[in-house]
Amino acid sequence: EKGGYEHFMLKEIFEQPRAYRDTMSPRIDGNRVVLPDVGLTADIIRGIRRIHIVACGTASHAGLVGKSVIEQLTRIPVETDVASEYRYRDPIITSDTLVIVVSQSGETADTLAALREAKRQGARVLAVTNVVGSSVAREADHVILTMAGPEIAVASTKAYTTMLIAFYLLGLYMAQTLETVTPAYVADTLAAMQKLPEQVEALLGKADLMKKVAEQFKTTENLFFIGRGLDYAAVVEGSLKLKEISYIHSEAYAAGELKHGTLALITEGTPVIALATQEALFEKTLSNIVEVKARGAVVLGIANEGHTELSKTANETLYIPRTLPLLTPALAAVPLQLLAYYTSLARGNDVDKPRNLAKSVTVE
Ligand code: F6R
Repeated sequence: EKGGYEHFMLKEIFEQPRAYRDTMSPRIDGNRVVLPDVGLTADIIRGIRRIHIVACGTASHAGLVGKSVIEQLTRIPVETDVASEYRYRDPIITSDTLVIVVSQSGETADTLAALREAKRQGARVLAVTNVVGSSVAREADHVILTMAGPEIAVASTKAYTTMLIAFYLLGLYMAQTLETVTPAYVADTLAAMQKLPEQVEALLGKADLMKKVAEQFKTTENLFFIGRGLDYAAVVEGSLKLKEISYIHSEAYAAGELKHGTLALITEGTPVIALATQEALFEKTLSNIVEVKARGAVVLGIANEGHTELSKTANETLYIPRTLPLLTPALAAVPLQLLAYYTSLARGNDVDKPRNLAKSVTVE
């Protein structure tokens, strides 16, 4: 059942090239995105004035990427909330609000309750889910299915990355309808997306490097992830993944915020994982790496291929294949998953069933 892998989590990490292909290929027709059966007509899309993305845990982290993607492509304002907060903050929900609920299982109690509240207040609800016929899928007005296949490990991997693919498709679909981007832009982005599966394969081939870093970091009790922009969204998920299965306390920080407090916690030997794939922000993140290094941090730097200068500053470096800035979270996720996996393994934890956690959270 684990297909020769030691754990479901590792199997599911390695299934991602297939999961990406299955999620995107039925929705790409030449140079355009098609979302058959979703029912988002041009009239509906033109009527959307604001978007709320609501989810829990890892799914909410996919939503952070989704917010950037949709805002950049469509210029429609997007807010993100964790579902356990959404209902209680009296959110401004109007009939021209699209509420996007994101849930692998489609059964998470808080997410389902948020969906019901949004509908009660007259919003249109779109669900991104991995489970056909789940409560969320049945109750939403529109559904985009991720094609990750069953996810067994408690720590979500392929479900998260296929949620990112779903957001790219949705953002492009809305943008091509609204004509907020050119047809050439859509074509270029789809071409770059279609290269992601083989680029993920290449990153899976570097698993040994993550195993080596995990050996270095396994005895720490504190660790930081830093990044800016979409890299920040990606490290928030990387940090959760590490925490939940390694039990190491970890925080994800927007790199520019470090000097507003957190730098005080960086001492000799503190591991820092710095993600710097956003070309426009590379130099800024690099200067934050220099700052933490000066306080004794041991840095794993992750950047796009070609940025060899990173090797002069970081203790370990991983280079990820070049893609469009918007798409890098779908690549950066993979080494961060592997790092979490190997750290959990090195600490002798139950990788697939971390303590105190359940795969599906059906109580609030
Ligand atoms: C973490 C993890 C959880 C889930 C969260 C929401 O790896 O799996 O944080 O993402 O419980 O679950 P779904 O997506 O099923 O609503």
